[in-house]
Amino acid sequence: MPAAKRNRRSGGRRYLASCTSGIEPLVGPLLPRVLPGARLRHVEPGYVLFDYTGAEAKLVTVALFNNLFRLLHEGRAMPFERLVEEVGRRRPQHGRVTGSFRLRFQREGRLERVAPETMARAERIVAEATGARPDRVNPDTEFWYITRRSGTAWYGRRLERQRLTERELEPGELRPELAWLLVALARPRAGEVLLDPFAGSGAIGRAAADFAFKRMYLSDIDAGHVRGWPREVRFVGMVADARRLEALADGSVDAIVTDPPWGLFETIDVAELYRDFVAEAGRVLRDRGRLIVLSGAREDWQRAAEAGGFQITGRWDILVNGRQAAIFACMKG
Ligand SMILES: C[S@@+](CC[C@H](N)C(=O)[O-])C[C@H]1O[C@@H](n2cnc3c(N)ncnc32)[C@H](O)[C@@H]1O
Repeated sequence: MPAAKRNRRSGGRRYLASCTSGIEPLVGPLLPRVLPGARLRHVEPGYVLFDYTGAEAKLVTVALFNNLFRLLHEGRAMPFERLVEEVGRRRPQHGRVTGSFRLRFQREGRLERVAPETMARAERIVAEATGARPDRVNPDTEFWYITRRSGTAWYGRRLERQRLTERELEPGELRPELAWLLVALARPRAGEVLLDPFAGSGAIGRAAADFAFKRMYLSDIDAGHVRGWPREVRFVGMVADARRLEALADGSVDAIVTDPPWGLFETIDVAELYRDFVAEAGRVLRDRGRLIVLSGAREDWQRAAEAGGFQITGRWDILVNGRQAAIFACMKG
């Protein structure tokens, strides 16, 4: 059934969100928590589809997603010129557009140029449906055609969100969506104490500010990072070696969420660092305390965690800036 018709029937709308490839299995369980009432419909690498009846203003604040689209058409993948014709025939509801718009064509995650006549036809479809004018340089709204090797094609209106571009991130800084996901996996609760002992620029701390907890310690061996960390009273910043967290008492932490060095740029023995850090994490965490780790040195981490008495309760292999990495959920004891 066309997206627009189904939406009218259910009283809601269907949305398409792109996300870090590999985290899709986590989105299903998290979605009802972050967007009550949302219903997951389809998942494929890098994308999730869901129905949602609530306000779009709430939707755009969900930190889990990268790009977010209100879906106007779902169909079979085909060359873009035919897809544009199909959309033209089906006349989806584009919604109100104030100002200008632009079209984007994406195949398998990459933007593509299309023939000038296909672009012109796609622009005419939007202009006739909305009265808005095309602006290929500085538009107010974007409509995207997306096709996938899985055989799916989507056409949707991109919802405007405040997202940092790669250039706005500090070198090595985690994307906020990924930092938020790591914190969500730790399931922080009011009254709990959290720790990120490899805090770097503080992305995990900033993401944690969205959650309930009593205190979060952020620490890093490099004093240069401290000034960028959250200033809220719940955060305590320290310059410390993650292998010797002397300021923290035994069993005083409920959950550690962290992104330690991966051994890519540093001249360190990552296996040794992980082994020593796991021993210290085992000391500061309470029994059954949670340890959520993102690492590109996946086997080194897994070996260190298991040898250090942690149970691996989940592992999700993902791509971070094109590099293979994994999120590990571990539990002490
Ligand atoms: C992968 S980066 C963390 C990036 C961080 N998640 C962010 O978004 O900016 C690893 C961090 O570990 C720190 N580090 C390296 N060895 C350390 C050690 N032994 N103890 C504490 N921090 C260490 C580095 O200074 C670096 O900031």
